[in-house]
Formats: sequence, C-alpha cells, structure tokens
Amino acid sequence: MLLCVAGLMSSCASAENANSSVVTLPPPRKDGGMPLMEALARRQSQRELASTPLPDATLSSLLWAATGVNRAESGKRTVPSARNWQGIDVYVARADGLHVYDPAEHRLVRVMEQDVREAAGKQPFVREAPVVLIYVADAARMPDASADAVAFYSATDTGFISQNVYLFCAAHGLATVVIGWLDKDELGRRMKLGDSRRVILTQVVGYPAGQAESAPVKQAVADTPAVAWRDGAYRGRARGYVDDIVVDVVVRNGRIENVTVVEHKESRPLSAFRDMPRRVVLAQGPDGVDAVTGATVTAGALLTAVRQALEKAKP
Ligand SMILES: Cc1cc2nc3c(=O)[nH]c(=O)nc-3n(C[C@H](O)[C@H](O)[C@H](O)COP(=O)(O)O)c2cc1C
Repeated sequence: MLLCVAGLMSSCASAENANSSVVTLPPPRKDGGMPLMEALARRQSQRELASTPLPDATLSSLLWAATGVNRAESGKRTVPSARNWQGIDVYVARADGLHVYDPAEHRLVRVMEQDVREAAGKQPFVREAPVVLIYVADAARMPDASADAVAFYSATDTGFISQNVYLFCAAHGLATVVIGWLDKDELGRRMKLGDSRRVILTQVVGYPAGQAESAPVKQAVADTPAVAWRDGAYRGRARGYVDDIVVDVVVRNGRIENVTVVEHKESRPLSAFRDMPRRVVLAQGPDGVDAVTGATVTAGALLTAVRQALEKAKP
C-alpha cells in the first residue's frame, strides 16, 4: 500500500495495489511565534509525553518548519541540504498508519495502514507518542556520492531537520526528543523501504505529559472563530450504553474552553472519553465531531450530553 509521490519515488518500486490516501494539511503558519532567542533558550529533550493527538494545524506548521518549501520559485526548503539533493524524507508514524510528508504539495500521503511506532525506538514512550517522525535518507538522490559521503550527508541533513523540529517544539510548548536507539534495519523493513533508503533517526513529538488538555485547548482558541456562547460552567447528561454520562462544559470569552466527563459507567472504549472532549473543544461544539470507532452509543451519548449543556449556554 504505497503511493508514488513526485520526488519520493524510490519507495514505489515495491508498491502494492495503491490503497493510499492523501491527508490535506491546513496552510502552515509562517508568521509570529516566539522570538528565536527565546526558543533557543527553551530547546530541550523531553521524554514524558501525553498521548493526546496533535491537531492538524499544529502538525502542518511542524512539518513545514521541519523541511517545508520556503522559496516556491526554487523549491528550496527551511533546511539546507548537501548540493540541494533534498535526500531526506520525513515520515509521520501515528496510530492511524504511516504517512510521508510531501513538501512540494504540503500534504501527507499515507503509505501504509500499520502503526510502526513500536519499532521506532527501544524506549517505551516512543510507541505512546502521538507523532513519531522518521527521517529516511535516499541514497538514490545523492548521485555519485561515495558510501561515506552518503552516510555523512544523510546524518548532517537529518540533523538540520531535527533541530528545526526541536525549535518549533520549544516555541509551541511541545515535547520532543530525537531517537537514535532503535533497530533501524528492522524499522526500514517494516516501512518496506527500498534498497536505496535508510532510516537515520526518529523523533517523537507530543504535548508534555500533564498538559494534554490545556495545550490543545489553547490551540483551538487560537484557531477557531468566535462562538457566542454565554460564559459559565454547564452540566449535561445523556444515557450511555450502561448508565448516564455526565459532562461539564466550561465557556470563557464566548468559547468552549473545556469539556470534562464527570460521571460514567461505560466499560469501553475509554478512547471516547479521552479523545472526544478534546475534539468538541477543537470544533467549538458537538456538530461535525465524529464518533470514536466502535463506540457509537457511548460517543453519541457524550455528544448529546454536550448539546444539552450548551443549550443552557445559548445567549
Ligand atoms: C543523534 C542523537 C541520538 C539520540 N538518541 C536518543 C535516544 O535514543 N533516546 C533518548 O532518550 N534520547 C536520545 N537523544 C537525546 C539526547 O540524549 C539529548 O539530546 C541529550 O541528553 C542532551 O539533552 P538536551 O537535548 O535536553 O539538551 C539523542 C540525541 C542525538 C543528538
């Protein structure tokens, strides 16, 4: 299940029937942000990450910072590359599969459905991270280079990308650490990389543990238009699979700031309670929020409870 992307062609030699999908990313934010010197002062490795998914808006800007095109006329990137070979691809491993970043189109292309995070590092936190970036060098894009030169440029070019990711994370309150302790050949096998491609490093990215709720909420507040809810804390209730599900919705400055499940007796799947309150905040309401797979009744009740709470918040 591999898809051929212009410039990312060599993995296509082993392509199976195309069953890949393209994830369109929102435009990256290229303005504002933390001053560079402050981001440098905050740069650090952090290994305690929440499993909360990153919003697409954040992932979009992160990938652009990592290796996006910053000069459309030449197709050159936010990072230098030896002889402008642009020999490193950035893969995104998540629970929903393996994707490769296509800088020219600023999109993600899903190359396989399997979750390869467990092979992306020996430390247990790697497989729990919502996003694991995998830096893959393609020797076929470094023509005439000796094996030593390929190894050298693969390492240096990956280092630039990784440092951009570190700085982006420092500036956006995200946790990250670059990972060299892994079986690169095994990961390459799982990714079905062709002969010319090699994993160089991986890098986990997520919200710092303990800030899983506040950080996405801040992002949502920044990214969504104003909704005219009345400020306050509102409670809603709806019958779930086993018993009532009770939620509290907090509205501040006219926006949904937080959704908390305060009571439930559901036994599974708890992912509904982990993911859906955050999605409601990101969407600024229950409309358009998809139910967690396999949890239609529980998720539906949760959304109904949110709707009931928001009835009281109407102006
Ligand atoms: C090439 C490279 C490989 C690394 N591999 C790992 C790793 O496998 N696991 C890990 O926890 N940290 C890894 N690190 C992170 C270092 O341990 C970390 O950068 C170092 O302790 C300094 O901490 P700081 O980044 O907070 O300044 C790696 C760093 C580099 C540059």
